[in-house]
Amino acid sequence: MFLNFFYNPFAMKSSELKKKYIEFFKKKGHKEIINAPLVPENDPTVLFTTAGMHPLVPFLLGEKHPAGKRLVNVQKCIRTGDIDEVGDEVHLTFFEMLGNWSLGDYFKEGAIKMSYEFLTEVLGLDKNRIGVSCFLGDEDAERDNTSANAWEKLGIPKERIVFLGKEDNWWGPAGNTGPCGPDTEIFYYAGKNIPKKFNPRDKKWVEIWNDVFMEYNKIKGGGVELLEQKNVDTGMGIERTVAVLNGFSDVYEIDVLKSLMEKVSKIARGEDVRSKRIIVDHLRAAAFILNEGIAPSNLERGYVLRRLIRRAIRHGRLLGIQDRFCKEIVKEVFIVYKWNYFFREQFILDEVGKEEEKFASTLEQGLKITEKIFSKKTPIKKEKYLKLMQLPNHVEILKDLWNKKQAGKDYSIKEAKISKKEIDKAIITGKEGFLLYQSYGFPAEMIIELAMEKNLLFHRGGFRMELEKHQELSRTAMAGRFKSGLVDHSEKTTRLHTATHLLLQALRNILGDKNIIQKGSNITADRLRFDFNFPRKLTDDEIKKIEGEVNEQIIKGLEVNWKEVKLIDAKKIGITGVFEHKYGDRVKAYFIGDYSKELCSGPHVTNTNELRKFKIIKEESSSAGVRRIKAVLE
Ligand code: GLY
Repeated sequence: MFLNFFYNPFAMKSSELKKKYIEFFKKKGHKEIINAPLVPENDPTVLFTTAGMHPLVPFLLGEKHPAGKRLVNVQKCIRTGDIDEVGDEVHLTFFEMLGNWSLGDYFKEGAIKMSYEFLTEVLGLDKNRIGVSCFLGDEDAERDNTSANAWEKLGIPKERIVFLGKEDNWWGPAGNTGPCGPDTEIFYYAGKNIPKKFNPRDKKWVEIWNDVFMEYNKIKGGGVELLEQKNVDTGMGIERTVAVLNGFSDVYEIDVLKSLMEKVSKIARGEDVRSKRIIVDHLRAAAFILNEGIAPSNLERGYVLRRLIRRAIRHGRLLGIQDRFCKEIVKEVFIVYKWNYFFREQFILDEVGKEEEKFASTLEQGLKITEKIFSKKTPIKKEKYLKLMQLPNHVEILKDLWNKKQAGKDYSIKEAKISKKEIDKAIITGKEGFLLYQSYGFPAEMIIELAMEKNLLFHRGGFRMELEKHQELSRTAMAGRFKSGLVDHSEKTTRLHTATHLLLQALRNILGDKNIIQKGSNITADRLRFDFNFPRKLTDDEIKKIEGEVNEQIIKGLEVNWKEVKLIDAKKIGITGVFEHKYGDRVKAYFIGDYSKELCSGPHVTNTNELRKFKIIKEESSSAGVRRIKAVLE
């Protein structure tokens, strides 16, 4: 009795929905199959499993499944396409999907009948709140009257059935090619006054289930062919359906997500619900990705993971959380899902902890630099900015503008009435973005988010160019690492490498000897060692002045650029370097503002302010006529 007092008889939990679904389809002759790994085993073209059908592709194509022709399961999924939308009421990066399959067994009528029975008889949904959509037909497949008739036979009135085109009523393939087909989607009306007619554009009609009729195979180069067998693939997102069943418009209200939201609220000082949702979604997804043995990195899956954790950390700061908090939330994920999943808890906690440590140490300073960069820009007026962002093709428009800008042409955006000047003043350049990425570990998406909060624009194309340039240089440096004296090409050694260029120029200026050249260099992660021709010991005063001049260039924030030049021209314009034939005919020259120009294969930082502070720790003799300086950066 006491417990009943707290029990809401209408509330449905995720675990109950799962149980009812699996039991129902088992009774209908389906075998339960495993919840497959998040990393697809058969498809190298995608990063994560995005739907229950994903691991079943070979069987939809005709291979025999050991469990038979009728299958059912719960599948964990990751979809990153809408990651920027996360923070609203419905978008999630990680979610669980219920699915049932027919591999060449029942088809449209059978699937629709079972779906309807489950919704109305098992879950007891109000028949009067159900609407469906069917495929309108095109050159690939005909109008799906079969499904519409099946719905009508079950009692769904005509005005509750709509026909829509491919963008709405076609599903798959999950990768670039593979099984796909028209679908029929089931909607539930979540509003108060139920309209007679079903309107798929009205947000109160919430999609809860999708029955896909996979009888086609999308082939390389476009077009579809008929599969050997007619399959059914259905997908029901658990979070969204549980929300609808409970009458919540916000998926974060459902049992599992609510526990996580409450955990965040306990730690947070701020109230911003969007930030809380982002933390919950991103750290839940991160825990499941880590559980696959993937660690944060700058590549592919590891990078998705890194972005999720870092964005969560920033939103933690926005909520006034000063301490480390990610592990606490992840521990709550373990608790919430302990009956359904086995977690590699220690690995996950260690990796989340390490990533948080790493990012938290650069976040503050990175945000300061961001503020400094942003303060030099002029935000676009709010109404114009919103208008621009609402243009469905605004990314393309901006790309186009930037291309034109590179070609030196004039431009303006008619639709949003934004002029070239306004855009120019509001752009965070690729170089600026790259500085935040390289030195402070800000993912590009985070820079976009920061820019959007201030009505600024981020030159993503320019950023990509910088990234590619840097990767190319890193490769070059790897190939010739002994030549340039670099042991590796980490961020630390890159900074020290740029410092040697400044040091050489400062030596020439302060010692008043233009003929000073590099006689050798060796860089580790902790320090640089630089040998140069000079006949005597340097005085303390000289060392101070050299140090001072290098630091002056750092504070100035000089841009670092490179150009490929002909060796012969390099000599003419006074570029420093060891002019040996090994450089070939065309050589790479690095320019640090107007201060230094030197032949070098790189890599270098993009701006001297990344070096922060330079300090000489030792000056000594190396060999006859050659001095050696050891120096560090803060
Ligand atoms: N595979 C069907 C769906 O994701 O809706």
